[in-house]
Amino acid sequence: MTGHLKNIKLWNIKIYYIDSRPRGNDFMEGVKKNRVFIKTYGCQMNFHDSGLIEDGLLKNGFDKAGSIKDADIVILNTCSVRDNADHKVVSEIGRLKGDKKIVLAGCFAKQIKLKKEFGVNINNADIPADYCFAPDEILSIPEILAGNLEKNYNGGIKGNGFKEELKATAEDDYQNFNLVEEYFYNKKIDSGFATIKIIEGCNNFCSYCIVPFVRGKERSIPFKIIYNSAKRYADKGVGELLLLGQNVNSYLSPDDVNKKNKKDFSYMLESLTKIDGIKKIKFLTSHPKDFNDKLIELISANDKISKNIHLPVQAGSDRILSAMNRGYIRRDYLNLIEKLRKKCPDAAFSTDIIVGFPGETDEDFEMTLSLMDEVKFDFIFGFKYSPRPFTKALEFNDDVPLEVKKERLERVFQKQKEIKSLRGGYQPL
Ligand code: 5AD
Ligand code: SF4
Repeated sequence: MTGHLKNIKLWNIKIYYIDSRPRGNDFMEGVKKNRVFIKTYGCQMNFHDSGLIEDGLLKNGFDKAGSIKDADIVILNTCSVRDNADHKVVSEIGRLKGDKKIVLAGCFAKQIKLKKEFGVNINNADIPADYCFAPDEILSIPEILAGNLEKNYNGGIKGNGFKEELKATAEDDYQNFNLVEEYFYNKKIDSGFATIKIIEGCNNFCSYCIVPFVRGKERSIPFKIIYNSAKRYADKGVGELLLLGQNVNSYLSPDDVNKKNKKDFSYMLESLTKIDGIKKIKFLTSHPKDFNDKLIELISANDKISKNIHLPVQAGSDRILSAMNRGYIRRDYLNLIEKLRKKCPDAAFSTDIIVGFPGETDEDFEMTLSLMDEVKFDFIFGFKYSPRPFTKALEFNDDVPLEVKKERLERVFQKQKEIKSLRGGYQPL
């Protein structure tokens, strides 16, 4: 067969062949388009990413399927932050047998790639995925699925391990600013609300968290791209923006790092409020250690900036905060809340709390409850600690029994109910 092809090439004859891979617009004239269904797990960041993937697919000649059942291609945009997020994805893949192409994207996809790279045994070796894209490769998904782009990515996995052993990711889509600009600028707008990712990745390495491993180091998206996109969205009727990032407070436009007037998070926020038509700006997530006075002043002085602030505390005991590598102690957190409340009396706070971190004693846990009493959060996201691959806390002894974790989480929710019944409360973002 190979020889045959060689001859054809020598004669300089164009050959047409049937390729089962889905193709983009150029190939789709008069042909039934492949229908894609995207299922998204996890955080707002993943929902934002899925929106970009969908826009790219529609542009590349794919149709949207109404359900998984009707789809030719199923994209699972996955999460890896907590243990049950992994389990959900694995069982969904188990249900997806048949002739559909399965695309794994996002944090769990990256986790599998990393395990493979570092020779870690993959428990779920028979995950039948045809493609596997890390979070920093998602902007290339449409073109790769359309067959129009041959990227040097880690290929699919099937059966025992990886189907294709290509080299590690050659290029980070979020460092290809032309590509990012194209996606952001042309994002489909169908309501008065839009999300914009301003920073990808995280440098903090909290000891329990897999995010720095699966989403990589912090990369801020240039100010110009965010600003122009927001302007365009406002022209299309968007009045409310949600700025996203694992740690929005450490935003710094990459074109400006060495200059005096840095385009940092405050600069970004303030600039966006000046766009005609923008009425409200929310942001997620802030890190307490990076929430500076300049930002507090700005939030208090500017009506367009939301005063619903999500500020994960994680724990109330200094011993646990230190083991978590959070970079602040209880007192710092309380001081910050106090400062914010003084400047913005109408501020509403939500938080994330982890119970049952390795070594958490009853006394440590009581400190979390007492911190809740002091702050009186308006909303709480509570989690039972679960060990995550690659993280520092994996070295610690996961010594709090599951029953105790459950009971502590229940007490956190109970406490929050008591606190909320004393106050009005608000709906989280
Ligand atoms: N175990 C439990 N909760 C976790 N989170 C992150 N990693 C873990 C883990 N290993 C929680 C944190 C974080 C939120 C998004 O998820 O509270 O802020
Ligand atoms: Fe994870 Fe900590 Fe980064 Fe948040 S700040 S994403 S918890 S490492």
